Amino acid sequence: MQIKEFSLLSKLFSELPYPKFGLIGHRGLAGRAPENTLASFREAAKLGLNWVEFDVQCCASGEWVLFHDATLKRTTNGDGLVAEIPYKTLQTLDAGSWFDPRFQNEPVPLFSEALTLLAQLGLYPNIEIKANFSEKSLRMQDFLSQIHRHWPAPLSPPLVSSFDSELLAILRSLSPQIPLGYLTHDFSEEAVSLVLTQQFDTLHCQDTFTNLEPLQWAQKQGVPLLVYTVNDPKRIQQLLEAGATAVFSDITNEIFLLKD
Ligand code: G3P
Ligand code: MG
Repeated sequence: MQIKEFSLLSKLFSELPYPKFGLIGHRGLAGRAPENTLASFREAAKLGLNWVEFDVQCCASGEWVLFHDATLKRTTNGDGLVAEIPYKTLQTLDAGSWFDPRFQNEPVPLFSEALTLLAQLGLYPNIEIKANFSEKSLRMQDFLSQIHRHWPAPLSPPLVSSFDSELLAILRSLSPQIPLGYLTHDFSEEAVSLVLTQQFDTLHCQDTFTNLEPLQWAQKQGVPLLVYTVNDPKRIQQLLEAGATAVFSDITNEIFLLKD
């Protein structure tokens, strides 16, 4: 496979000051608190993580909220599609009890609230955009305005990722300073090539590696590889040693914490 030498790629990312990668809390810290909630960020901060990933999408009244699924059922006491429910209804939901009664009435956070809290906690965001909307360009302008308003300007910008490469290309044209991660399910040379040609900054893929050579290979191409979602400490270590820039983890068990 022929791959062009990268030029602008990752320069932007590596030249800005960022905390060390390695371990990224997944959906906040989904093994220790309800996913995509402010409580999960607090757990991540308690454990001393530098980065958290979380998912955002738009609700019916236009607000950006933290939510993974298209529907409310699995992680709240509500029902229906997030894209069809206005924020005034979403804000009455309990997004914590399904996980543990200790988190009863934990709300569905607004994106703005999440950014504000993360900056206070000293955690860096990897924001995954779930594209549950049309009018992509307008939505991306609104998304960026949320970052400009709620993420302190002196800090390096958040890493933004999506499975939707068109969204990332729109973001790149609107705001060249924001590092972008392309999400794919399985690692492939085509995905590496897309990152290079589109001048995205990172490639995020599932841990479906049977051999780990592609990790080093991608690194040699200048494409940092971020691997999701891995909860076995030995496997995390193996992936990082083989060349992964970071691994997303829910950090589910005590053994992991002791080893960490
Ligand atoms: O961003 C990495 C990972 O979160 C992508 O998968 O389904 O957990 O959002 P998902
Ligand atoms: Mg995600």
